[in-house]
Amino acid sequence: MNDTPKRLTTASGIPVPDNQNSLSAGRNGPLLLQDFHLIEKLQHFNRERIPERVVHAKGSGAFGTFTVTHDISRLTTARLFEAIGKRTEAFVRFSTVGGERGSADTERDPRGFAVRFYTEDGNWDLAGNNTPMFFIKDPIKFPDFVHTQKRDPQTNLKSPTMMWDFWSRAPESLHQVTMLFSDRGTPDGYRHMDGFGSHTFSLIDARGERVWVKWHFKTQQGVRNLTAKDALKLAGEDPDYAQRDLFGAISRGEFPRWNVFVQVMREEERLAWEARTRWSAFDLTKVWPHADFPRQPVGVLELNRNPDNYHAEVEQVAFSPANIVPGLGFSPDKMLQGRLFAYHDAQLYRVGTNHQQLPVNRPRCPVHHHQRDGAMAVANGGAEPNYGAVIAAGTSPRGFGHGEPGWALEGSAGRYDPRAEDDDYTQAGNLFRLLTAAEKDSLVRNIAGAIRSVAVDIRERQLAHFDRADGDYGAGVRAALLALGG
Ligand code: HEM
Repeated sequence: MNDTPKRLTTASGIPVPDNQNSLSAGRNGPLLLQDFHLIEKLQHFNRERIPERVVHAKGSGAFGTFTVTHDISRLTTARLFEAIGKRTEAFVRFSTVGGERGSADTERDPRGFAVRFYTEDGNWDLAGNNTPMFFIKDPIKFPDFVHTQKRDPQTNLKSPTMMWDFWSRAPESLHQVTMLFSDRGTPDGYRHMDGFGSHTFSLIDARGERVWVKWHFKTQQGVRNLTAKDALKLAGEDPDYAQRDLFGAISRGEFPRWNVFVQVMREEERLAWEARTRWSAFDLTKVWPHADFPRQPVGVLELNRNPDNYHAEVEQVAFSPANIVPGLGFSPDKMLQGRLFAYHDAQLYRVGTNHQQLPVNRPRCPVHHHQRDGAMAVANGGAEPNYGAVIAAGTSPRGFGHGEPGWALEGSAGRYDPRAEDDDYTQAGNLFRLLTAAEKDSLVRNIAGAIRSVAVDIRERQLAHFDRADGDYGAGVRAALLALGG
């Protein structure tokens, strides 16, 4: 409803005399260029859209609070974890990955689960997914992989052939493909799914010691998934199903919550575990089994405030895995390293040079640097110096800074193809074996439905991967294909 009697102005604050009738030369005459209100209105309208995200274009977001429930300050100096009960403002954006901004919320796809913590030491962004693993382990493959999930360059159609051609030649994707084609690939909205930081990160304690960690967000609402049939039906009936569900729940005061956990691996444990399993702790296509590395509780994330303005907040929010705060650290995971570059670069293009100055992106702590100017420089440093004084030699911090030690390097610089040595099958098979009979049944039927239209050679190459993960897995997909008529 728009019946508030507020004085209408132009963007420069000049009262608008008439918002219904353009200024014309005579009753039926042409319009006059001097109707600057009309011109400004049409010009601004033409510029309303910013480019959509190249991936994760369709999404929903909300503000909330992270509250510490368990003390992990022995592991990290990060101030948001310094005391039980401490609360930090948060913003979360959920998303699908491959579809455009108008695509259906219920498509089979991983779901983005990006969390921003507005800490007193700056913004910490954990831009993860609802899956603990990913399809690939080297960022050089990411644009190719994403192209297979988008539209065919000629037909402009989604192409199962491109998808299965890629997956069948990249067996490291099998673990994530198994999760994607289980009913976890069609979650029932965003409130009923878990979230994962996915990569290995690190925590740094007061002595400058590092442990490796993985972050987990476990839904308090319970995991709930849609069947393939219901997901398809909803895609037609209510393509904004997940947006409606999240916004509605928060409006009603039903605030969704997630318990936040961390898995911890010390360096000596990493060496022993890698020697025993032949998996790398920094390989994003693998998980750390809970039996070896139990989840330790840390806190609760609650979403309790809907955005006032979708474009200003949800569309313009700019998460970057490079945003971590003192007490937290990265890992050598190649995918993470690639992402440290990719997001800020994408946002310089998508939102603009000064995107960090927008209210949703602005840190809640003071900001002080010597970057200046560029389009839309709202906070431009005022009269403060625009250069940093050179500090005395020998006073620079050691390691990576913030008390974070460097990490040891090994080997020589080069391009390494891990496929000859890596085990891409055991964890995929373990995930299959964990499923109940009903879940296995959905999985193989979902795969058969998706792969049946694909050429026989691609299909056979992929079936061989299912066989290697677990004989019952391959046999199940074959039987489901036969039931569909081959
Ligand atoms: C090297 C691999 C990857 C590259 C190059 C990459 C690149 C990108 C880019 C360019 C965007 C759009 C950013 C923007 O315009 O704001 C994006 C969004 C996103 N990515 Fe990635 N990505 C990669 C892997 C991953 C992985 C492994 C995850 C999860 C574990 C992930 C989760 C997300 C999420 C959740 C978003 C949406 C953030 C939001 O809601 O605004 N990405 N990615």
